[in-house]
Amino acid sequence: MSSVDIIVLAAGEGTRMKSATPKVLHSVGGLPMLEHVLRAAQAFGAERTAVVIGPNVPKVESFLKQRPVPIDTFVQTERLGTGHATMAAADFFADGHNANIVLFGDTPLIRPQTLERIRSLLEADADLVVQGFEPEDPTGYGRLLVEDGQLTAIREEKDATDAERKIGLCNAGAMGFGPGILNKLLNSLTNKNAQGEYYLTDCVELACAQGLTVRVVKGDAADAAGINSRAQLAAVEAIFQQRMRQQAMADGVTLMAPETVHFCYDTKLDADVTVEPNVVFGPKVSVRSGAVIRAFSHLEGAIIGEGAIIGPYARLRPGTDLGANTKVGNFVEIKGATVEEGSKINHLSYVGDAHIGAGVNIGAGTVTCNYDGFGKHRTTIGAHSFIGSGSLLVAPLDVGSNAYIATGSVITENVPSDALAFGRARQTNKAGRGAELKDRLRAAKQKAMETKK
Ligand code: UD1
Ligand code: MG
Repeated sequence: MSSVDIIVLAAGEGTRMKSATPKVLHSVGGLPMLEHVLRAAQAFGAERTAVVIGPNVPKVESFLKQRPVPIDTFVQTERLGTGHATMAAADFFADGHNANIVLFGDTPLIRPQTLERIRSLLEADADLVVQGFEPEDPTGYGRLLVEDGQLTAIREEKDATDAERKIGLCNAGAMGFGPGILNKLLNSLTNKNAQGEYYLTDCVELACAQGLTVRVVKGDAADAAGINSRAQLAAVEAIFQQRMRQQAMADGVTLMAPETVHFCYDTKLDADVTVEPNVVFGPKVSVRSGAVIRAFSHLEGAIIGEGAIIGPYARLRPGTDLGANTKVGNFVEIKGATVEEGSKINHLSYVGDAHIGAGVNIGAGTVTCNYDGFGKHRTTIGAHSFIGSGSLLVAPLDVGSNAYIATGSVITENVPSDALAFGRARQTNKAGRGAELKDRLRAAKQKAMETKK
């Protein structure tokens, strides 16, 4: 297998997004589109990867800086086309040692297997490989001109004749160059075209003129979907979601209504997880086998143990770690809390910044009062304790194991293990006074209505 260095072009302005966020940082499945492309390059096994960015894009620069794997970054000071952008990275490929693949930062669904196909053609006999596809609507794409089975040129929409515009086979974007070929071709590019730009795509005609071998890999239209507008962003998101759902089901997950389940790029569902309709997975969720995520639940930053039952209508926020066979029911919110095996929080509760031992029952409407307006405080509850419904647990607070908190308590002091804690006013019953009170109120209301008349 020969080495390939990848260059990702990401210096376009993305004006059609109408956004303060640079286009390549808009997310698909919760991950910036540029990161999708960089990960495809990494998964494919690129030896090195470079990104070409525009001038004055501090958000893109800092995004690239915070990546764990450093990336060579080049700035295209003027946006004069895709060929010009590639030239901005000349120092990256000047030694001509490795083959190169040039990718676009706004085409996030490109897959490692497509890059692999480009590499194998370069390894066989090709000097230049173009990723081709047949979109439903070719408008806007460069057309592949083929004569006697040989690709002779790529014609950009704006430069094409009417006859050329009727061609359905288009340039998807990824282009592979054998060792030394990029250097050889780029220097001969001109900007004599409708847009006055240096087109990378003109390399095809130049290569043919020099007697080099040019080949096309025909791929999936989804892999080639580019993003220039919010509508295209949504269309790509839909394809991405579809891929995630298919993958989950292929891995043994039951999705009762797949089209209603929203995944994140890193959602991990083990085999035999069941997901009911209308569930949203935010970043960093993993769910172990046998768990059921019931309808209308929203999860992010959560680990769900084996056999747990979540929802319907549960909200799990970052730092949630639920043990095996736990139950989290309707209108329950959990944040920054570990809940050990078999514990139940079944109705209308908030549990935040807490550690709940195994076998605990938390009654309906319990709240861990973790915030005093300035700082957050923790609550711990030992194994097998029982928290009565409607309890307010004012943190910082430690409740021991096997303790019992009476319903409707406001608990402000630690509760030792095995203790019974009451934190409420004592009830008094006054014989006959209820009926008396009602008579008095009835009479007062009647009098008020009479004076109105
Ligand atoms: C390009 C191709 C076209 C292909 C289409 C596929 C060229 C000349 N045309 O057209 O054949 O069918 O993609 O989607 O290559 N960029 C820079 N600097 C620039 C210009 C562009 O970095 O000066 C980057 C953009 O950020 C983008 C990529 O290059 O990631 C493609 O640029 P774009 O303007 O979107 O090209 P298209 O007109 O879509
Ligand atoms: Mg484009």
